[in-house]
Amino acid sequence: MDVIEAIIANQSDVKKVILSDAKGDIKKIIIRPIELKGKFMWQIERYIGTQVFHENVDNKSLKSLDYKIFKQISIEMIGKTIYFTKKNDTYKSKEVKNNIEKSNISLTHNKTKSYLINEGDNVPALVDLGIFTMDKKIVRSKYDKFKQINRFIEIVDDVIQHEGKEDFTILDFGCGKSYLTFLLYYYFVEIKHKNVKIIGYDLKADVVKNCNEIAEKYGYKNLKFYVSDVTKDELFSGKIDMIISLHACDTATDYALNYAIQHDVKYIFSVPCCQHEINLSIKHGGDFDLLMKDGLIKERFSALLTDAIRAEILRCLGYSVDVIEFVDFAHSPKNIMIRATYKGGKKSMHDIENLIDKYHFSQTLFNLVKNK
Ligand SMILES: C[S@@+](CC[C@H](N)C(=O)[O-])C[C@H]1O[C@@H](n2cnc3c(N)ncnc32)[C@H](O)[C@@H]1O
Repeated sequence: MDVIEAIIANQSDVKKVILSDAKGDIKKIIIRPIELKGKFMWQIERYIGTQVFHENVDNKSLKSLDYKIFKQISIEMIGKTIYFTKKNDTYKSKEVKNNIEKSNISLTHNKTKSYLINEGDNVPALVDLGIFTMDKKIVRSKYDKFKQINRFIEIVDDVIQHEGKEDFTILDFGCGKSYLTFLLYYYFVEIKHKNVKIIGYDLKADVVKNCNEIAEKYGYKNLKFYVSDVTKDELFSGKIDMIISLHACDTATDYALNYAIQHDVKYIFSVPCCQHEINLSIKHGGDFDLLMKDGLIKERFSALLTDAIRAEILRCLGYSVDVIEFVDFAHSPKNIMIRATYKGGKKSMHDIENLIDKYHFSQTLFNLVKNK
């Protein structure tokens, strides 16, 4: 089956087409149907490096899209998703049922951004969590949170696209009210059709109780929450595929990263928050002293140094690491994500040791892994 012909033949049912896994600069293309001045068109979203480019085309121009550079293509449409996988220059296709309905397809152009999970999608837990209203509209005050979480899931999706359908276990450190945890569960079960198990940990007994009740209500049997202090309690120790943390306070992030390192976890997605430790312990010692004269600058410098050290430790211990801005600063000032995938190998942590010797600060992740 020709991919573009399959898209055009089903144009009134198509929600979204994702083309990924190509050699070269284009990381991904997303195609969505839109209506422009009363005319049916396709919006092509090209992800090149760290930028995204948009182009609107008709069916004729869509036919000239060089889709054959992509190994993985999925066409999401009403009732089913068709997956194309390229092997030896030919595409094999497979259809999987989904729960996309006509009402989930919006042809609105540039008015509402389309996310992996959209307003109107049937995610009943989001109503209980207070993110969606009863008629599946985003609660106004939760719009930024919804955007952050969708972006988080898009980033996860970019990295794990080519994971197979095997069981997949995720731990969420400092899950709080667990908006992310529930949406991630929905994403893995409903969009990726994976047998996923997600465990959320948090200090607060009341939020954990509420999350377990919602999970039970919707029969999410593999989504469980526990009251735990991730800095000292015993946590799940079976095979873990991914560790996530979104704004886990201060050193809770270090314990999340350490847990990943100690348990050979392949994927880490961590957005740190309130990095106080270095700010409180760093002493004058050399070239950086200028950055410690003013409290505000010292605080920001210390936070950046903390995350730079975390990223470097992961690199030294075999992870490939990117530090990215996961949402605009305007949506959350705590917007740095450490994204890491285990590749193997090990190198010395000399540079970090030298900094600590010079500036005498304490850094929890370093203390936890220095003898590994
Ligand atoms: C800012 S909230 C973020 C919650 C959620 N991840 C989100 O982004 O909506 C931080 C959460 O981390 C939890 N937390 C902080 N330290 C913790 C620890 N040592 N163990 C477990 N949870 C912790 C807090 O109780 C709080 O719910």
